[in-house]
Amino acid sequence: MARFDLYASIHKALRSFMADTLGAVGRMDVDDAAERDATLQQLRSLLDALEHHAQIEDEFIHAAMQARRPGSAEETGAEHERQRAALRELRRQADEVDGAAGAPRAVAAHALYQHLSLSVAENLAHMHEEETVDNAVLWAEFTDDELAAIHDRIVASIDAQEMAQVIRWMAPSLTPYERSTLFGALQAKAPAEVFHRLLEVARPHLAPRDWNKLVFGIAAVPLAA
Ligand SMILES: [Fe+2]
Repeated sequence: MARFDLYASIHKALRSFMADTLGAVGRMDVDDAAERDATLQQLRSLLDALEHHAQIEDEFIHAAMQARRPGSAEETGAEHERQRAALRELRRQADEVDGAAGAPRAVAAHALYQHLSLSVAENLAHMHEEETVDNAVLWAEFTDDELAAIHDRIVASIDAQEMAQVIRWMAPSLTPYERSTLFGALQAKAPAEVFHRLLEVARPHLAPRDWNKLVFGIAAVPLAA
């Protein structure tokens, strides 16, 4: 029987957000001010999301791991420190693209792209470590009810704007079953207007086939319960 996985859905969202942003930075026309601004804005919100994600893991997950099995979150916590340094450097490089002009701007944009590519690679490897090594600790030390309680505390700590951003990337990244389960939980726990707003956030990013499956899936949730 599958165990409660704290990482699976949010990591799918972050993988999509990273891949999309890496592609956007790679194709960015640095001489088109509107495109440059939009791309760097997406990059900066990705960097904010990655920083906050690591902070949430430190606060809610690593602290719990350390409490049950001292030392078990040290390696992954140290990796977050290295990530923070990389995120700071990526911010500085984005500012450099903003501040440069002409040929130096194109050079700065390529350097930013190369570093972002490496950081994405490191982050993908790090997330795999969390989903295997760290999950093994969590599954050995906690029941699924305890992990669900940690998940509820994490969700409660996220404000409305950030939740919309999470849903924007998470919704198109999940399987139809996972997507229906996510929205079924939102339907059950969130106020109706919040639930409907988040559905509208997701809709433009779903293929018609996936949207239809979602509408059918959430309608079926109460029947299946
Ligand atoms: Fe992490």
